[in-house]
Amino acid sequence: MMMIHRFFQADLEPPAWLYAHLARRAVFSRIYRFWADDLVRILPPEGRLLDVGTGPGYLLDHLAAKRPDLKLVGLDPSLAMLQQGRCVAGFSFQTPFLGVVGRAQVLPFAPQTFHQVVATFSLHHWRQPAQGITEILRVLKPNAKAWIYELNPDASLVDLRCFARNLKLPYLLVYPVYRATTWHSALGVADFTAIMKASAVSKWHLKPAHHIFWQLEIEKSLNAEITGEG
Ligand SMILES: C[S@@+](CC[C@H](N)C(=O)[O-])C[C@H]1O[C@@H](n2cnc3c(N)ncnc32)[C@H](O)[C@@H]1O
Repeated sequence: MMMIHRFFQADLEPPAWLYAHLARRAVFSRIYRFWADDLVRILPPEGRLLDVGTGPGYLLDHLAAKRPDLKLVGLDPSLAMLQQGRCVAGFSFQTPFLGVVGRAQVLPFAPQTFHQVVATFSLHHWRQPAQGITEILRVLKPNAKAWIYELNPDASLVDLRCFARNLKLPYLLVYPVYRATTWHSALGVADFTAIMKASAVSKWHLKPAHHIFWQLEIEKSLNAEITGEG
């Protein structure tokens, strides 16, 4: 019930232009850099990566800057969001990724297409998250992984202080913004467990990442059925 409540609230999303404006701030850029650093460490040369719910695609811009060899695809149901990434001169005027309109629940890609799938701040928006996870497994190559990042509503005060220090932000600013954001768009352990159970995924691991986030890792085993893990 709690999760349904959060998913309902998550629909109170800012318009694409406002989200893109906020996501271009230095604070977001530093967060995208954390995630991009995680990803470039494991992606093979010329690896294919899908970002589900990419929004304006700024994570992909950071990835492309670090690893121009990668083949990057950003998917989002909102064309307006995707367009935000393309029309802002000076930031991502020449977007270095393929933007695709679509939803996590029905990914328009062939099975076993990607070396890695990522989703950041997006899972809590999906209306059928288990179906999205099943689709992600279908499009992953065998032995490949998906990483899903969400805000962790249970970060400790020590973690919040470390996060503020890493981002060179005042703690007294970070604390209320974190609390307000987790109120409507963060997932707890029980939420992830319910989603994984509904999608019948056997290999998954949830761990705290970068002080205030979760990183949900889902692995597709070598002999997994293309329709799901099971
Ligand atoms: C908070 S934004 C995050 C954007 C980007 N990942 C980032 O980190 O900046 C959430 C995004 O999820 C997208 N979204 C909502 N429902 C979705 C679905 N069913 N499948 C894929 N993306 C979805 C929204 O359009 C929005 O762009």
